[in-house]
Amino acid sequence: MTAPTVLGDVDIEGVDFALEDHPDIHVVLEKLRDAGSHAIVPFAGVKAILLLTNDLVSAAFKDEDVFPASAVYQMTTGPVLGKTLQCMAGDEHRKNRALVSPSFQRKRVTEMVTPLLEPLAHEIIDRFAAHGSVDLVAEFTTRYPVLLISRLMGLPVQDEATVHRWAHDLFYFPFDPEAAMRASQDFTDFVTPIIAERRRNPGDDLISVLVTEDIEGETLDDEEVLSFLRLLFPAGADTTMLALGNTLSALLTHPDQMELLRSDLDEHAIWAVWEGLRWEPPVGLLPRACPEATSWNGIDIPALTPMVFSINAANRDPAVYPDPHEFDITRRKQAMLSFGRGPHSCAGNWLALAELETALKALLERLPGLRLRDRDDTDATITSQVGVALRGPNALNVEWDL
Ligand code: HEM
Repeated sequence: MTAPTVLGDVDIEGVDFALEDHPDIHVVLEKLRDAGSHAIVPFAGVKAILLLTNDLVSAAFKDEDVFPASAVYQMTTGPVLGKTLQCMAGDEHRKNRALVSPSFQRKRVTEMVTPLLEPLAHEIIDRFAAHGSVDLVAEFTTRYPVLLISRLMGLPVQDEATVHRWAHDLFYFPFDPEAAMRASQDFTDFVTPIIAERRRNPGDDLISVLVTEDIEGETLDDEEVLSFLRLLFPAGADTTMLALGNTLSALLTHPDQMELLRSDLDEHAIWAVWEGLRWEPPVGLLPRACPEATSWNGIDIPALTPMVFSINAANRDPAVYPDPHEFDITRRKQAMLSFGRGPHSCAGNWLALAELETALKALLERLPGLRLRDRDDTDATITSQVGVALRGPNALNVEWDL
């Protein structure tokens, strides 16, 4: 086989899959997928291959040899967050992943984290429950996951506002790289002495677990602990913030589903979370790269081709999900691809699910009759956030019965 050297013509004009949001992204993706399981699309002024079916996206995630995560993350998040799990491969990745994972296993989450979640959700709701209306994005979804990460790390409560600012600046890295670099450095300066203290005097918080974890003599050094902690803001907090916003947006714009959920929260909440993650995954279009020329699943891919794994198209693939555009909390399917797959799949999925279910229940219990103040409020529509990969609502202006 001769290695392919150039990609063919693009299959769509007028949408850039790196830079611009398309208001009807799901319509665009469906049209492309009807024509084939992948498409060649404009991407930051060059061409990329967009993978569109559940099968292809899933296979691509698992194929770390052909599409190594590090090829992209070293360039994008590496300069700000350092050498995180996402920048690692092979043995280094296996060692680091094994050492950080125990804290996020299902059993550990249920035992250690769940008791923190409900009081935290109620603490935040207490600030606005008496007001009768609020923007849930500004007052709840952006606060809850960051505060949880901060408390898991065992950081001083009086520093939470500062931690929140750092998390915000890291999120907006593409718009303001200087602020993000400063936030990364300030966080490092702040947490380094805490790491040293926990090495001397461990407690039961996440940092203590990370510095004391020892698997057959393998341990994490300070930089490995630091890069993991930095990663938790974009990987753990921002994703959960957007996921919660998306599920709330879906429920608020589908009152019949909201009603059904409210009729039996214990029965439906976790399935509403799964359906929200399927219907509008916060990581919708994930960029990767193919460093070497190859022929993969019948697709000829030249060296250094940018790839886009369309989780949001895979999650609406009619071969897996009948009536895929319907938001239906009785579907009862776990759209695991929303958490990626393969060696770099989400290390925090159990935590994310627990966070989302707890938040949803707390909000609906405390805010009776929760609804959008204006049914036609376009701010509640899900749109791209900081580039096209991430998606969520800009605001959720809601009211409830007092
Ligand atoms: C609904 C919320 C979440 C979603 C949708 C989500 C989604 C994802 C996805 C798609 C990936 C794979 C990225 C890739 O292959 O390039 C990933 C990786 C990761 N996630 Fe999550 N995530 C969520 C919450 C969390 C939470 C709460 C944590 C931890 C506190 C977390 C920690 C991580 C880490 C550490 C990785 C990197 C794993 C590695 O490279 O080995 N995530 N996540």
